[in-house]
Amino acid sequence: MSDFTPRYLADYCEANFSIATVELTFALDEYKTRVTNRMKLTRVKDDNQPLVLDGEHLTLVAVLIDDQALNVDDYQVSDSCLTISTDRKEFMLEIITEINPVENTALEGLFKSGDAYCTQCEAEGFRRISYYLDRPDVMATFTTKVIADKVKFPYLLSNGNKVAEGDLADGQHFVQWHDPFPKPCYLFALVAGDFDVLSDNYRTGSGRDVALEIFVDKGNLHKADHAMASLKHSMKWDEETFGLEYDLDIYMIVAVDFFNMGAMENKGLNVFNSKFVLADETSATDVDYFNVEAVIAHEYFHNWTGNRVTCRDWFQLSLKEGLTVFRDQQFSADMHSAAVTRIQNVRVLRSMQFAEDAGPMAHPIRPEKVIEMNNFYTLTVYEKGAEVIRMIHTLLGAEKFRQGIDLYFARFDGMAVTCDDFIDAMADASSVDLNQFKRWYQQAGTPQLQVSEHYDAVNSQYQLTLEQSNGKNLPLHIPVGIELISGAEQTNHSQLLQLTKQKQTWTFSDYQQKPVLALLTGFSAPVRTQFSQPDQDLQLIMTRAADTFCRWDAGQKLLTTYIVQAMEQPALNLPDNLFQVFEEILTSDMSAAFKAEQLTLPNFSELADTIEEVDPIALLNAIDSVKQRIAEVLAPLFLEQYQKNSATVYANDGDAIGKRALKNICLSYLATLSEHQHVLAEQYQHANNMTDTLATLNLAASQHHKGFADMMNDFEHKWTDTPLVMDKWFAIQASVNSDSIYDRLSALTSHPLFSLKNPNRARALIGAFSQNNPRYFHCASGRGYEFLIEQLRLLNDINPQVASRLITPLIQFKSLDKGRQTLIKTKLELFMQQVDLSKDLQEKLDAALAS
Ligand code: TRP
Ligand code: ZN
Repeated sequence: MSDFTPRYLADYCEANFSIATVELTFALDEYKTRVTNRMKLTRVKDDNQPLVLDGEHLTLVAVLIDDQALNVDDYQVSDSCLTISTDRKEFMLEIITEINPVENTALEGLFKSGDAYCTQCEAEGFRRISYYLDRPDVMATFTTKVIADKVKFPYLLSNGNKVAEGDLADGQHFVQWHDPFPKPCYLFALVAGDFDVLSDNYRTGSGRDVALEIFVDKGNLHKADHAMASLKHSMKWDEETFGLEYDLDIYMIVAVDFFNMGAMENKGLNVFNSKFVLADETSATDVDYFNVEAVIAHEYFHNWTGNRVTCRDWFQLSLKEGLTVFRDQQFSADMHSAAVTRIQNVRVLRSMQFAEDAGPMAHPIRPEKVIEMNNFYTLTVYEKGAEVIRMIHTLLGAEKFRQGIDLYFARFDGMAVTCDDFIDAMADASSVDLNQFKRWYQQAGTPQLQVSEHYDAVNSQYQLTLEQSNGKNLPLHIPVGIELISGAEQTNHSQLLQLTKQKQTWTFSDYQQKPVLALLTGFSAPVRTQFSQPDQDLQLIMTRAADTFCRWDAGQKLLTTYIVQAMEQPALNLPDNLFQVFEEILTSDMSAAFKAEQLTLPNFSELADTIEEVDPIALLNAIDSVKQRIAEVLAPLFLEQYQKNSATVYANDGDAIGKRALKNICLSYLATLSEHQHVLAEQYQHANNMTDTLATLNLAASQHHKGFADMMNDFEHKWTDTPLVMDKWFAIQASVNSDSIYDRLSALTSHPLFSLKNPNRARALIGAFSQNNPRYFHCASGRGYEFLIEQLRLLNDINPQVASRLITPLIQFKSLDKGRQTLIKTKLELFMQQVDLSKDLQEKLDAALAS
């Protein structure tokens, strides 16, 4: 039985002991790894309270204080802790435990990924390795000795610098590592295995040489080049942008196939999901390339924002994650098209974070109550957290933001701090008052901005009124970027408005005509807007706004209006001006990548976010019919652009990537028309890169293409031995738009390559079905929901973290129509009664079913 007692931010209390040094010795063994942990402890509070160490799934072998074994009645062991009573002020505590890496399918603590051993300690996984004060404000210097078979595990890695190595009896060897930077245990890492290594080096701005090493499964060396280039770009960017240099002599990245999340920033030894390391043109898409670079950057940036300055407690998670996501977004924007990068950030926010903020697990970016910490690695903490940092950047300007960051490191390097500490540094360095702004850290939910305009022709005045609302929450400090577009010759007027009251009005003079308002330039705040603008205004913004985000957003708004209308009137005639807009986009001089974003219809989740209690099938029908109608009218133009942007030679520079995106979005329109479906088969045959192949397969899956089964067989044979590509194959199978889907799903779960123990594979099938196949996931029969629940039942025992992420669409049932709400609720209630739930699922289901 787990302990479901919540923890509260308000109850934070310093630890009663500090740990100066930790010496770990691992004798690696599949079922019985022995961990010896010697810690130098000092009592910091004179309260004579016992020492309570966290520990789970551990077999205790011995406890020694100052080298003297304790008697069994000197300590107490429970499921979750080891309690030691002692009146010593300073002592060496040695704890010997045994753990079982092979049976660790939760992938927290020490586990096996294929033949390699590796660890994952964030958030609270170190307690599955040894008894410890497993909290981020306890920072110690780690020395780690790893012992294993020399032939099977030639590489024995841990944090910091290698300080000793040698051979031992019975074919064993050891390597000892020392990390000079004190750190919380969540940044500890150990890896042991046999790998191919890509080695390189980087000279920092101050002239220090850093060895760079990327460890991949044997045979994958050629797929590590992009990760290495990305790492070097990240190192350079952080020096140039924030003056931050790397601090150790070596930086290692290990790619593993079994991993719960994207990657982990362990000091000097990042562990990565292989999905975010490996890439080559035949097996990775343009999006994969982008993501590898972004995740490499993210983990690298953590070295300062997360590791050098870390979190006081887990409620402060956004201190490191929001800031680091903001940094990786800025990096991506600098490396690629800033406009397109921003659009993609906003799509993620609107389609997923807004839903989270409207659902039962809504929480402020700094949560106040947590049952299972793993449940708070959320879109809110990460993506909304990054938006909050971006708003500070907007309010301060780039220069003062940089001064704030400098002050933050000057004050807090080497410490474990809070979100308030961060904001205070930003405010002190810039003299900008951020007191009201702090409410962004305290209040959940997406604020709504209501806009009204008044034009006074007599006085040539334009008045703009903004009103914010978010339930019972207090007014926030919201930066609202605007652009006023007036007569043809005039330049636009751009301004940053600061909305701090619930309702405020601004007056603009000397407007001979009512200007057109482009609102929320650059998406200056994570809010929903309530503002209906006539089509011609939106069209004007699309071509005349200086702000590229607003250009794109105006088009999306126009499309949203017609898709929502088509839901109510299925026979709706689309107006000619909509087709004109598409023609203008296709023939404009914007970049191909930007055009591709403009031509992409708002996705199902983005649209669903704008509709209360949505009937998913009606919405999907509306999307399909609008798309098909546009395709019918503009087919020749799509075909022309498809051909014009098709390249015969593969390249992966920005221009080539943009053209591929544009070409494939054109293809997606053509694919809705039976007379053009042959283009799909042709593209599949001639594709010389994964982006084109995958685009074809996805369209064939959704458009009932008659060649689909053959293509999928061909693809399967070609890629059976490449796990990351087979994940794509499973995901496409799960998104097939056909009544046969449930039979297909059950066949896939018994496919020889399917395993719930591999998170990537589980997500490829289950996650893809629930996210990319809304028509069948939301089938009125309830079969889609049943499939997900059946898989969750199994995953609950295997890997609670993965189960807990996959349950998301079910707990957000309140966004659906009443019929589906009841359907899901009934099934979830039954599930809860039948299963001995993990903390992770229990917390979410309790929240979803409360009230
Ligand atoms: N700190 C990691 C990051 O943002 C994410 C992370 C948290 C993680 N918990 C994890 C990664 C568990 C893997 C497994 O980059
Ligand atoms: Zn992170």
